[in-house]
Amino acid sequence: MDQKRVLLIIGGGISAYKSLLLIRLLRGARIAVTPVLTRAGEEFVTPLSVSALAGHKVHSALFDLGQEAEMGHIELSRSADLIVVAPATADLMAKMAGGRADDLASTLLLATDTPVLLAPAMNVRMWHHAATQRNLDALRGDGIHVVGPNSGDMACGEFGLGRMAEPDEIMAAITARLTDGPLKGRHIIVTSGPTHEAIDPVRYIANRSSGAQGAAIAAALRDLGATVTFVTGPASVPPPSGVQVTRVQTAQQMLGAVMAALPADGAVMAAAVADWHVSNASDQKIKKTASGLPVLEFAENPDILAEVSKGANRPELVVGFAAETQNVAEYAAQKRLRKGCDWIVANDVSPQTGIMGGSENAVTLITDAGAEEWPRMGKTEVAARLAARIAQALGAK
Ligand code: C5P
Repeated sequence: MDQKRVLLIIGGGISAYKSLLLIRLLRGARIAVTPVLTRAGEEFVTPLSVSALAGHKVHSALFDLGQEAEMGHIELSRSADLIVVAPATADLMAKMAGGRADDLASTLLLATDTPVLLAPAMNVRMWHHAATQRNLDALRGDGIHVVGPNSGDMACGEFGLGRMAEPDEIMAAITARLTDGPLKGRHIIVTSGPTHEAIDPVRYIANRSSGAQGAAIAAALRDLGATVTFVTGPASVPPPSGVQVTRVQTAQQMLGAVMAALPADGAVMAAAVADWHVSNASDQKIKKTASGLPVLEFAENPDILAEVSKGANRPELVVGFAAETQNVAEYAAQKRLRKGCDWIVANDVSPQTGIMGGSENAVTLITDAGAEEWPRMGKTEVAARLAARIAQALGAK
């Protein structure tokens, strides 16, 4: 295997000292390190200590004629298998989220097509500030991976979330990203969460889906190396990092987002899409009137799973879900044929099972070979097992 290369951007924070330990861990794992130090970073660790540990000179200036002659900043941004930003300060995250490029680090991050992993580190209030959380959300949506931060005592004397992840945790996240999983180079679309169908501008029809199973599946596919497009309705569980996130509200929008994400090698439709929308939804808030109760009229939503399964751009493997409250395997097998998908992951969502909104799932996998009952297990385990099966199926084709 070729030697892996990490471009390590060290931002300006007290936890920059931990990045020196990280360099040692990387070198110990025979991973080459090209270090970049921001101007603020230089206030915390010296270029000399960084370059001595990395065994490589430090890049710091955007317009350095000597450095540009050896390797231009665009080339530098693409020369690694992974870019790691540790510590990722609030300022660096804001620059990234805003697409700014006013120093070497931010320019590299904007110019790159290499996966990026951030290890945020900042004061607890800065971390919880709406602006930082907004930027974090945007970066996650751009497919940026994030490790940490952790909670604990801070150098500034406060306590809370904002401590940079420890070097060994960052190392584990790096190793996971650098490992070529069986789904490397494969694009998989995952839908997740409920949809909201408007009654009027303030009211909607929804269901109890938390989006937990869909998020876990997206993370498991990502961990096997897949490029994941995660199309999510308004779920209560946040999307995983390292996947491309598209947020939608309605079934119609979800269909549009899924179609726009094609072509793909696989599609896993875990969303609990509303079957109907309100066809006489009001543009204005419906008022209480003396003349009687409002009457809602319904129209059928597009069936995204069926459209993808039967469409021209059909992925190699299409997996649907079936949430039933009775005759699970039988109804699911019929659904597989009706919708034209390859597999159905069926589960019993009767209230007594505690599955909808819970952390566990008991599924039956329906394929053309028949029904396979899986024991009850955590949604994360269901996701890992399903992702492994998907890797097997796509590999075998
Ligand atoms: O028909 P039912 O809703 O039970 O089918 C469930 C499966 O179909 C799930 O995979 C769900 O994501 C998908 N579905 C869809 N579009 C709809 C309804 C369901 O993609 N309008």
